[in-house]
Amino acid sequence: MTVHIIQDFVPYNESVIWDITEKYYKENGIDVFSKMEAEDIVPYESTSNYQSAKAYLEMLIANSKDLPEESFPLKLLDCGAGNGYFAYNLLHCAKEMNFLEKIYLIVTDFAKENLLGMKRKKILKGFEEFKNYELVELDVSNLASAKTLEGEPYKFENIHAVSMNYLLDLLPLTILTKKNSMFKEKFDQLYLKTYIESKEDPNDMDFKTYCKALKHDLDWRPYKIDTESDFEKKYYDFFLNFHEKNKTIVGRQLFFTYFSFLSIDSLMQVISDGGFLYIADIPPRKYEIFKSFGGSISHEIDVDVLAAFAKDILGYDSVGLVDDILSRIIISKSKTITPELTDAFSKVFVENNMVNRLADIRLALGSFHHKEASDIFLPLLDEFEKLAGPSAEVSLRRGYYYRVNGDFKKAKEHYEKAKKLDFINDYDVDAILWKLNHEQKGPELTVF
Ligand SMILES: C[S@@+](CC[C@H](N)C(=O)[O-])C[C@H]1O[C@@H](n2cnc3c(N)ncnc32)[C@H](O)[C@@H]1O
Repeated sequence: MTVHIIQDFVPYNESVIWDITEKYYKENGIDVFSKMEAEDIVPYESTSNYQSAKAYLEMLIANSKDLPEESFPLKLLDCGAGNGYFAYNLLHCAKEMNFLEKIYLIVTDFAKENLLGMKRKKILKGFEEFKNYELVELDVSNLASAKTLEGEPYKFENIHAVSMNYLLDLLPLTILTKKNSMFKEKFDQLYLKTYIESKEDPNDMDFKTYCKALKHDLDWRPYKIDTESDFEKKYYDFFLNFHEKNKTIVGRQLFFTYFSFLSIDSLMQVISDGGFLYIADIPPRKYEIFKSFGGSISHEIDVDVLAAFAKDILGYDSVGLVDDILSRIIISKSKTITPELTDAFSKVFVENNMVNRLADIRLALGSFHHKEASDIFLPLLDEFEKLAGPSAEVSLRRGYYYRVNGDFKKAKEHYEKAKKLDFINDYDVDAILWKLNHEQKGPELTVF
């Protein structure tokens, strides 16, 4: 085994992992979200589901109920849209809630390949491009870079609401740890060394194998803000004051998310007064500084820092909540957030969080394998169907239910239905159908 150094120790934010992350998304498009295409998928189910979209719409409806008629359709911007499943659920849900005519969704991602994938796979079928939605290439840290699929510059104006699901967690940042106050430099910063241990030359590896083989060593070295980038310098005082004010303990890892600040700052500028920015992202993790999915890197998001940034630097009010699945925050484009918006946030995420209900039912259904438990699982399946909206997963689980109970005809009908909605090839429905046709005696215990 030879150790191939890809990059010796550099500050975390200068590491090659950022180029790799960008390449991973831009080259693989929506395949990174598919269990059949990627070995280590980028998760999307916690954010891009029907109940998350419904919660977002309920907040939007509450927030826009006093707007004059000419304000509609409201322009909504989804940043880092991934496989488009949040947009898909949002449009379906808006139709269901009789709100489709009231919105116009701008679906964006910095990976053009994602947007083309959404078109190729007809994910937004049933909705009209340029009437209900449009697709725009956008790097969220540089709004001026936005362009249409034809490469024409695109300008954002009068946006009413912005959604960012699992996006801030992968924007460049510096990872720091607080030193004792007697030191002149207040923080140490994380350095990363990147290498591959292999008999094979990394240059001969395909990209997927290369990403999988990457290993890192960590080191902490003094952080000198004077020598850092202008972006870091711009937000450093805020970051330092926040941690001094909050008496952050010495030795704790801190995430200086200056690219998130930059992105939030510029997005708030294109949101109309009274509109809002909705962020859902990774909650604090106890044991990991960072985590990779395939070739992409991700970090926890601290909504308290974001709320303080919105208030102290931008002058906007916010409401946020962290649970075991997500960190969530709404930043309102107003000095004081309206009671309508806070009440709606509280209703959908505190009082009756249907996203959590959906997640738990999904988890429970995953443990159903025997017909003897059918009477327990059938009501759960019915409830799942009510909550999950139009999705391949509902038909797939229904198909599995009939398969376990030996009704192959009905199972097949549901699997055929699932195949039509499995836009990203998340489940190998063809293989399941093939097996079903060959099952003679009884069902095989295949867990999907
Ligand atoms: C983890 S996925 C989240 C997808 C989706 N929002 C969800 O929650 O299911 C992150 C997405 O952000 C995109 N992305 C990464 N960096 C970006 C940037 N600087 N600007 C815009 N999109 C970016 C990636 O291409 C990817 O589609």
